[in-house]
Amino acid sequence: MIPVCKPYLPNRTKLDAYIDSIYQSCWLTNNGPLHQQLERRLKDYLGVEHLLLVANGTLAIQIALKALNITKAVHTTPFSFVATSSAVAWEGADCVYTDICPKSWNLDPNALAASEQTKGLLATHVFGNPCKTHDIERFAKEHSVRTVYDGAHAFGSKLSSSENLWLAGDASIGSLHATKLFHSVEGGFIVFKQSEHYELAKQLINFGIGQNHVPQHVGINAKMSEFHAAAGLAVLDDIDEILADRQRVYFRYKEQLCKYLQFQDISAGVQYNAAYVPVVFPSEEVLLKVSNALSNKQVFARRYFYPSLNSLNFFSSTDYQCPNSESISTRVLCLPTYFGLEDSDIDAICQTIISTIE
Ligand SMILES: Cc1ncc(COP(=O)(O)O)c(C=O)c1O
Repeated sequence: MIPVCKPYLPNRTKLDAYIDSIYQSCWLTNNGPLHQQLERRLKDYLGVEHLLLVANGTLAIQIALKALNITKAVHTTPFSFVATSSAVAWEGADCVYTDICPKSWNLDPNALAASEQTKGLLATHVFGNPCKTHDIERFAKEHSVRTVYDGAHAFGSKLSSSENLWLAGDASIGSLHATKLFHSVEGGFIVFKQSEHYELAKQLINFGIGQNHVPQHVGINAKMSEFHAAAGLAVLDDIDEILADRQRVYFRYKEQLCKYLQFQDISAGVQYNAAYVPVVFPSEEVLLKVSNALSNKQVFARRYFYPSLNSLNFFSSTDYQCPNSESISTRVLCLPTYFGLEDSDIDAICQTIISTIE
């Protein structure tokens, strides 16, 4: 059986060494030594200053919106995982959907329309492909809109060899869920541009407790435990090999399938992490035929992200038409990709796809 993804399991001896240190310190959560170590190492690795580890990527979005005081209505993309929209709605705000670019599948900055109500923007670097952050920031500046980037898929991607994706906008979030190429089983992080938002978020994730243990805000519990930090550290030790292996898998598929199927357009100069292998079929009918042919061979591809989020009636009080997102979401399938997926399995999957569509 070949699943769409297999979580990376770090070397057991290395993981045990981190776990042993938890047994020695008897410090299980609340900013323990491993949490501090992971935070330090991630700041170095990502080249950022104000990084906060949290319990998961969904809470990361919610805390970022809260710390930036983004309320009421948020410009966002209809083509993302459901958590992008649900985090907005959970914060009591309305999703204002802007259609995506049919090639990059990211929110199209040219389609953004200013609105009185909308004081925030949440865009996803979908499948790890960086958004056009310069164009988005231009819009944000012109209309005094705060921006948050959902970088749940983007660990290891760069805007260019010199431009850091995690420094775009007012905040960016990452997910460290087990399905992500870098993970801590469950977990997430937020990178803030300004220290004041970081300091506020640090209190928000710990019940709103501030100095002298006195609550200062309505907070929540979004802390990461030492066991999760241990898993994160053990996986981070292997990150270079993990990223290199994703490239191998991605380009082996692309070489065989690009003349039959549409791949996501990655802008020139972008350093792409190849976190996923999404392919677009000419129609939903062909997608379903291929998906059935693969599952008959015990290969399980997945329909990320279907349906287009604007078609769900609980995230927004307005009906939005997003034809590009609606079209891509009915025709996109993510092919299996994970560390150690055999070349021969990739070739067999490509053969099944080609023989089904030809
Ligand atoms: C685009 C996107 N945003 C947010 C999330 C939520 O992250 P988490 O599962 O860590 O809560 C995910 C999870 O897969 C995601 O794909």
